[in-house]
Amino acid sequence: MAIPDHPLHSAGSISSEPVPSPLGISFGEFLKHPLKVGSAFPASDRMVRRMLAPIKWGAVGLCIEYGPGTGVFTRAILSRLPRSATLLAVDTSREFTRHLQRHIDDPRLRAVTGTAADIEQIAARLGLGQADAILSGLPFSTLPQETAAAIVASSAQLLRPGGHFLAYQMRAAVHPHLTRHFARVDKGFEWWNIPPCHLYWATGPRRSR
Ligand SMILES: C[S@@+](CC[C@H](N)C(=O)[O-])C[C@H]1O[C@@H](n2cnc3c(N)ncnc32)[C@H](O)[C@@H]1O
Repeated sequence: MAIPDHPLHSAGSISSEPVPSPLGISFGEFLKHPLKVGSAFPASDRMVRRMLAPIKWGAVGLCIEYGPGTGVFTRAILSRLPRSATLLAVDTSREFTRHLQRHIDDPRLRAVTGTAADIEQIAARLGLGQADAILSGLPFSTLPQETAAAIVASSAQLLRPGGHFLAYQMRAAVHPHLTRHFARVDKGFEWWNIPPCHLYWATGPRRSR
């Protein structure tokens, strides 16, 4: 799958154009691409805390986030990461990555417009090595099956042994892919979110290549 033609963007660039609110951007993107965006509402604080709680963030050197949207998880991860760490956030929507670039002024963040299906190429282009944790907000139920399978397989390939894959989504579509590519998968469900979400924590990546 080709990387979209716009270049890899890094956080920190500022523009003088008027900027819509995060909720405005979320609604706008949801109306344009309902299946890709999945929900117009950002994740709740409670879901963010619960999702991130099992990870020892102080030991993370590289974290990757798929589908950061307006950056609710992005900010929470940055607040937990060591100063020397990197957070690579990949979203297909340029509106979302531009929003992150404008509003999160943190040298640890690399916000990239692209698809998670290309994560191995994107990480290689940025000179990034193995990841300690990957967080996915992708709506796996609306992705083509082969794309969903390729994203989880590439993630397992990119994670270091003992690395973690975290996912939240409305439906349980990611679960069979996780059990195929990870030795252990823990599950939860969070009602306090719009929409309520399945939560998954997978570890023990199985490499297929
Ligand atoms: C449910 S939203 C996540 C919202 C955000 N994490 C939050 O809590 O506010 C799903 C996100 O995945 C993005 N997305 C969908 N398909 C993608 C793909 N193949 N690669 C990267 N991002 C994708 C959408 O643009 C959207 O930002």
